[in-house]
Amino acid sequence: MGSEVTRIAELAEAGERMIERLRKKAFLPEDRKGLAVRYGIAEAAQLLGCSTNRIRMAEEDGRLPPAPATENGRRPGYSIEYLLNMRKVLGASPARRDLDPPAIIAVQNFKGGVGKSTVTTHLAHYLAVQGFRILVVDCDSQATTTTLFGFNPHFNITREQTLYPYLSIEPTEMDLFYAVQKTPWPNVDIIPSNLELFDVEYELAAAGADGGSVLASRFRKLKQGLQDLAQNYDIVLLDPPPALGTISLAVMQAANALLVPLAATTPDFCSTVQFLSMMEQVTAQLTNAGIAVEYDFIRLICSKFDANDPSHAMVRQIMEQAFGPSLLPIPILESAEISHAALRMMTIYELERPIGTPKTHKRCRTNLDEAMGQIEALVRRSWGIAAPAREEDVVNA
Ligand SMILES: Nc1ncnc2c1ncn2[C@@H]1O[C@H](COP(=O)(O)OP(=O)(O)O)[C@@H](O)[C@H]1O
Ligand SMILES: [Mg+2]
Repeated sequence: MGSEVTRIAELAEAGERMIERLRKKAFLPEDRKGLAVRYGIAEAAQLLGCSTNRIRMAEEDGRLPPAPATENGRRPGYSIEYLLNMRKVLGASPARRDLDPPAIIAVQNFKGGVGKSTVTTHLAHYLAVQGFRILVVDCDSQATTTTLFGFNPHFNITREQTLYPYLSIEPTEMDLFYAVQKTPWPNVDIIPSNLELFDVEYELAAAGADGGSVLASRFRKLKQGLQDLAQNYDIVLLDPPPALGTISLAVMQAANALLVPLAATTPDFCSTVQFLSMMEQVTAQLTNAGIAVEYDFIRLICSKFDANDPSHAMVRQIMEQAFGPSLLPIPILESAEISHAALRMMTIYELERPIGTPKTHKRCRTNLDEAMGQIEALVRRSWGIAAPAREEDVVNA
């Protein structure tokens, strides 16, 4: 009996072995000594918003360490660490002021495959290049984001390293600091996930009659835990599971901003509309239960736009009409560069050199910078407006 069913376990095992092989290939120490991306002086100056001269002068007068040594007359360029130090020394850090609340952005849509993890990871790395301090929280037991950060959720991550010990019905952790891990990026940390995080859903579903109050307490807990952690960062990115479950709900109310990715296809449009009406009902219920859900901004972003596909242009028009200014004007273009980078468990921002043609790479990178820049602008604006007055301003007024 069940010979085909026993095959499921074999398929899963063979698949796991393959993932580990791919990961080892992508992360073999000699292939990937930390983060290999480097920036030329012109790029560095542009990122910092200063002249190349200003950098050279600071290198000459010793405020900055000397420029990285040249090899065969070619400059290896500045690393992210180098850039971060440059920002500090030259007063070009984008870090929020202490009184500005950290942005806690949930990248959510209940449909799978709409680009949530792709947007989360690329946004994290884009913002890291801009010099922000970033925390990524993988709340999805499918753990795509964890994988894209170079962990194998099956082999390298235990349940105790995920949100589980904090959210479990019998919690063994009282705050979230235990779960924060370093990534190859000096200014990006991650709370990873793996399949066992799903146990939280089972446990809370089994809580029965007490369910309601247990849920409410879990919601408050996640919000508090993330807020405590967020004090060490400028921006926290949450990648929730693609379903209306406990974790998903907890994430939605712990966030203070919402980014909804969707592709320019009819199924994505329809499920996004469904997602929005579910969200509306759920937030009303939460508010009734005394759990406030408040967002500084809600935006939709088209996550895989193919300009050469007429159907994409048509669906995009429908999206524009339906969502108006809530749809970010610049879509993320569908690009083989992104899927190829994903195969290496990387984002575009981690590639040392193009995978496809330089032209394809450049177009993809430029588009991502512009698309992600829209979200950076929203965050900066929320600080501009939401920031409480500084003490000296009040005193001098
Ligand atoms: N702009 C893009 N261009 C090409 N492929 C993309 C793009 N965005 C997402 N993808 C691919 O689509 C698939 C689903 O994306 P993913 O981010 O995992 O979605 P989700 O997290 O919503 O399930 C992945 O294989 C990813 O590499
Ligand atoms: Mg995902």
